[in-house]
Amino acid sequence: YTIRAQTVSESCPSNIALIKYWGKYDHQIPANPSISYTLNHCKTNTTIEFLANEPFSVQTFLAGNEEIKFAEKIEKYFRNIEQYLPWILKGKYVIQTENTFPHSSGIASSASGFGAIAKCLMKLDEDFSGKSSEEESLQKASFLSRLGSGSACRSLYNGLVVWGKSHEVEGSSDLFAVKYPDSEIHDVFKDFNDWVLLIHEGQKSVSSTVGHGLMKTNPYAERRFREARENFVPMKAILKSGDLKEFIKLVEHEALTLHAMMMMSDPAFILMKTGTLEVINKIWDFRKETGLPLFFTLDAGANVHLLFPNDGSEEKIKTFIEAELLPHTQKNGVVKDVMKF
Ligand code: PMV
Repeated sequence: YTIRAQTVSESCPSNIALIKYWGKYDHQIPANPSISYTLNHCKTNTTIEFLANEPFSVQTFLAGNEEIKFAEKIEKYFRNIEQYLPWILKGKYVIQTENTFPHSSGIASSASGFGAIAKCLMKLDEDFSGKSSEEESLQKASFLSRLGSGSACRSLYNGLVVWGKSHEVEGSSDLFAVKYPDSEIHDVFKDFNDWVLLIHEGQKSVSSTVGHGLMKTNPYAERRFREARENFVPMKAILKSGDLKEFIKLVEHEALTLHAMMMMSDPAFILMKTGTLEVINKIWDFRKETGLPLFFTLDAGANVHLLFPNDGSEEKIKTFIEAELLPHTQKNGVVKDVMKF
């Protein structure tokens, strides 16, 4: 089971969910299907130097600085996936990784990070399994990255991506993500902005691992899982028709529901900050006054993802964001990305 000593490099973007994954079963099986946009600019670039026949060990560097905690996490992850990559514990790894976006910015670096590592592993695996088709290799990378961080499996594909079995999406699976069919997506959704307002850059008080775990005892969990499954029905119709009004309603509802679940956990926790609520209210006022399609989603953190299409209304929206929303961020922080496919 040995493979050649070699160095491989891969890159993978992050993603932002529209219908959220929050709650899971053993072996990283999601409690409900989710759908996300893959970002175009916010990426992790990873280089793995594999030294064959050395005792198994993992060394990691983030932007050149050695990260012991991350190495321990990866070591555990590699042990976990040995059943799928039998050669994986037969060597030493030196992993260099860098993100093209700021650290702890509320952009999921675990998604892009595990996506990039899984792609590197698939390259190394060619010595053992032989070269597989692009499609097969991406699916296996999606499968492997899921075992590192659930939402990572959606980052292997661009555009809109579904993870978790849904009757509304052909070929969808709990084990890996699939691309939502391009032909089923209205053009308005194929050129969209995601500007992330950095409300609070500190460490999150509750990790997503703990958050998922608290869904096990949340009395609203089953209702929530059912709602997320059911939300695929209107989402499918919206994506086809291009109904922005309904899209906005559904996406904001999903974001607020994610945070409502946190508040109804035992113990309860709140990841939103004052600035998060101020920005949400300003967005709602702006929409009421102008009717322009600026809306938000939230990840498991305080930062606000501002979503708006490039449909001709974007200049007015950008002016509003710079003037009215940026003052609510830490150090005028905003990360500008786009989903164009
Ligand atoms: O992939 P994890 O375990 O970090 O979970 C992330 C879950 C959310 O980002 C909050 C929602 C999602 O679907 O991405």
